[in-house]
Amino acid sequence: MTQPPLPLIAIDGPSGVGKSTTARRVAERLGWDYLDTGAMYRAASLALLRSGRSLDERGPLETLLAGLDIAQRGTRIFLGGEDISEAIRSQEITTLVTPVSADARVREVLVDQQRRIGASGRWVVDGRDIGTVVFTHACCKVFLTASPEARAQRRFLELQAKGQTPDLAAVMQDLNRRDTADSTRAVAPLRKADDAVELDSSAMTLPQVVDWIVARHGAHP
Ligand code: DC
Repeated sequence: MTQPPLPLIAIDGPSGVGKSTTARRVAERLGWDYLDTGAMYRAASLALLRSGRSLDERGPLETLLAGLDIAQRGTRIFLGGEDISEAIRSQEITTLVTPVSADARVREVLVDQQRRIGASGRWVVDGRDIGTVVFTHACCKVFLTASPEARAQRRFLELQAKGQTPDLAAVMQDLNRRDTADSTRAVAPLRKADDAVELDSSAMTLPQVVDWIVARHGAHP
């Protein structure tokens, strides 16, 4: 039986392409809600780190996952009621989230939560597998890309704006590492859904990307 299309814009793509900011702005423009699934994988990684456990431990990981209390209010992310929005952006979590998000048990729990959240209302959701796995019947699917150079440059400027002194080569290397890991993992690898439209944003500004998505998909009933 075919499911009716969901009023949900899925924005997938590689790291550093600006999915979260784009998705948030598209949601603001349309008056829809926004879900950052990358933040959920980061929150699970922080919970694992704090527990002192490792991914290899069967029982403890399952117990941890069963008690995972992740919430998003506006653009803030909470773990067990604590605001962890800044804590999940550390380099330690950015490194740990790669194996955590490749673990099938973690994905099963988080995908289930994402589906429950997106089942009612209108959503803009960004991630890696939203159009291919989580919401295959989303009305609108965008696969947002940009050249590795453009993505590294954006990430570099973002870190500078936060007061950090990043190294462009190191930023590029980290993006490459995440691209390779996300697209070659066995479970839900990053790829464009057959019915997604690909938008190469290398030469576009953020407002142009937002306008493009709103113009193309925003009119959906
Ligand atoms: O978008 P982000 O960088 O905050 O995502 C953090 C990590 O989570 C990223 O390395 C890939 C993973 N991820 C995923 O596997 N599936 C998603 N739907 C979203 C993120």
